[in-house]
Amino acid sequence: MQTGVPLMTQPSRTLIAGNWKMNGSGPTAETLAASVSEAATGLPAHIELTVCPPFTLLDRIGRILTDGPVALGAQDCHVEKSGAFTGDIAAPMLADMGVRYVILGHSERRRDHAETDALVCAKAESAAAAGLTPIICIGETLEERDEGRAHHRLSEQIIGSVPKDFDGVIAYEPIWAIGTGRSASRDDIIETTAHIRHALATHLHTGDKTPRILYGGSVKPQDAESILSIETVNGVLVGGASLAAESFIGIARGAPKA
Ligand code: PGA
Repeated sequence: MQTGVPLMTQPSRTLIAGNWKMNGSGPTAETLAASVSEAATGLPAHIELTVCPPFTLLDRIGRILTDGPVALGAQDCHVEKSGAFTGDIAAPMLADMGVRYVILGHSERRRDHAETDALVCAKAESAAAAGLTPIICIGETLEERDEGRAHHRLSEQIIGSVPKDFDGVIAYEPIWAIGTGRSASRDDIIETTAHIRHALATHLHTGDKTPRILYGGSVKPQDAESILSIETVNGVLVGGASLAAESFIGIARGAPKA
């Protein structure tokens, strides 16, 4: 871990982000969004919620979330503003739909679409230029962790994927914890997010005013309080448990008081 960088904890809202991945359609998805939106009205103001449905649902879910407390998010965007890119969606198109957050560089996209750090960085710039807040995902494999290379890998991803003037959110998602039911231990999260914060403070022009850091990987309501009470964790990115309003809101309720 790098040392010697003064750290500052910024007052910021706790972000609970739901990544629906390639799930949901029609009325079932609308019911889920409506239930989340309704339950979110009872949460304290320092807790911020966003749900990121697939592109096909953005319009429908956006209509349900309008004027409510839950922000609309997306799961990817193209690096260019427009053009001959069949099947892709540009950041300004997302902004036009009322999208506020966009997940970028998720390990599933890095794996399935060969997304590189440089591409993720360019997408983050494009998203920010369109007025969106990027959530850049980073995370190590189990092999990298077991071989003691997790910190190095995360630093590499920060240097490669995070623009130096970044004003978004970082999601630390150990790849071995995603969708496996095996969340990282509290000690692992404390130690790794402290490293991430130092690496960001060194890399970014903003220095010690580092972005919010989320933890992601098999987050469940019963673990939320323990994870969200970690000083270097400012929220969670939730996959499976965001597909039911009860578990997603249960996770938000685990956030410590302001
Ligand atoms: P999970 O997914 O909560 O189902 O592990 C998290 C993510 O991939 O963002």
